[in-house]
Amino acid sequence: MTAPVLTIDGPSGAGKGTVSRAVAKLLGWNYLDSGSIYRSLAVAVLNAGLNLDDVPAICEVAQAMLLEFDCGDALIVKLNGVDITARLATETTGNTASIIAAYPDVRAVLLQKQKDFQQLPGLVADGRDMGSVVFSDARYKVYLTASAEERALRRYKQLIEKGIDANLPQITREIEERDRRDSQRTSAPLTVPEGALYIDSSNLTIQEVIDQVVNLVV
Ligand code: DC
Repeated sequence: MTAPVLTIDGPSGAGKGTVSRAVAKLLGWNYLDSGSIYRSLAVAVLNAGLNLDDVPAICEVAQAMLLEFDCGDALIVKLNGVDITARLATETTGNTASIIAAYPDVRAVLLQKQKDFQQLPGLVADGRDMGSVVFSDARYKVYLTASAEERALRRYKQLIEKGIDANLPQITREIEERDRRDSQRTSAPLTVPEGALYIDSSNLTIQEVIDQVVNLVV
């Protein structure tokens, strides 16, 4: 029996991570945070001091990197045996991930690493191209979004809560720039997959979103 897949795609900051983790826990399914694979590669590329337009070298690093995911209550990621969890969340890592994710050759190398997560009893996969490319025949598909202003505000509040200095107009600009890059690239751009349930979370609580997504499956 093939494991059923629920894909949750959308722009950065829409709440995909929180919703996907909660839904995977409620269903007892596995969870793939595909962005963390691109982010881990970004860390590996930054560690190696590579030029961000050196695609063959980036592909080599992608092929060689050994990733270990511990998807407990909080995700722990090891790159070649070293815990890189703290570095995954930084803006530099996110922006670098978005830049290298635009290369089709890089995406091709990372494809199988993502498909390997499809294991019984099921998989919740979050990203940009989960429903359109990686798991295009997924049984359940969701597109989760929110306005750029709302996503920037959420990010701003997260940073302030962590005691990190933040600038709302700058965060809004960065989110809009990331949206533009992720949606306009030619290879597997961010898009609403055919047949996906479209959820705009701008005026919804996380719990309301979780309920809508779980109802799709049960
Ligand atoms: O979801 P995230 O912010 O952690 O993702 C970081 C970057 O990785 C995102 O800006 C684009 C890229 N990405 C992608 O191209 N495809 C995915 N399925 C997931 C992430």
